Amino acid sequence: MKRNIIAGNWKMNKTQEETKKLIADLIPLVKDAQCEVVCCVPFTDIDVARKAARGTNIQIGAQNVHWAESGAFTGEISASMLKELKVKYVIVGHSERRQYFNETNGTVNARIKAALGAGLKVIFCVGETLRERESGETQKVVMTQTHEGLEGIDRKGLKNIVIAYEPVWAIGTGKTATAKDANDTIKVIRKAVRKDFGRASGNSIRIQYGGSMNPANVDELMSMPEIDGGLIGGASLTAEKFARIVNYQTND
Ligand code: PGA
Repeated sequence: MKRNIIAGNWKMNKTQEETKKLIADLIPLVKDAQCEVVCCVPFTDIDVARKAARGTNIQIGAQNVHWAESGAFTGEISASMLKELKVKYVIVGHSERRQYFNETNGTVNARIKAALGAGLKVIFCVGETLRERESGETQKVVMTQTHEGLEGIDRKGLKNIVIAYEPVWAIGTGKTATAKDANDTIKVIRKAVRKDFGRASGNSIRIQYGGSMNPANVDELMSMPEIDGGLIGGASLTAEKFARIVNYQTND
């Protein structure tokens, strides 16, 4: 049985003091969650977040990782540095990285390999822009991102990867893909994984939806058969909202 996974992506928000408070507020609210719970915090908050969450079901993640082990890469952080901080997950290929920091499928692939090599789990993001959606390219875009992002990774590595389908036009905009659209596109991504890694791997990989997921739409999204979790931006910054998402209710 796969276990669903809800991850918060705090982006560039929260000081250390604010981190301590948010984690402390979250602990009692999410302690009975059925799904895996992750908070992907800024690098500077990792240590504080981990200490605040120690002994609880909240796992700590980072939001990016460099592909090199060390070297002249000003401003970057390596996988072993994250591992030393006992980070469990790292987000790779978020659309904001692709859009503002020239991330490509090739660099995403290199970062994923470095993260897996260090024993980190990866939340690998894919998703189409509004222009791509409107020109009917959604399927082609997510399939290419999936194939190229996962190139050269073996089945064993794949077990430590979660894919997040995040339509770019739905991120931070209040616009959510309909549950059916999200489910249909995730099905396409799963097909791409099956093609490269075989049926069993395609079936067992967890694929999240992300993009304005919130307390009002989480139950419907999580009821869809292809959706195994969520990657939450804005709504992960408030304990009550994130907890409501983590404690989603479905009929099955
Ligand atoms: P959002 O962000 O929930 O604020 O739309 C999601 C994400 O970017 O991961």
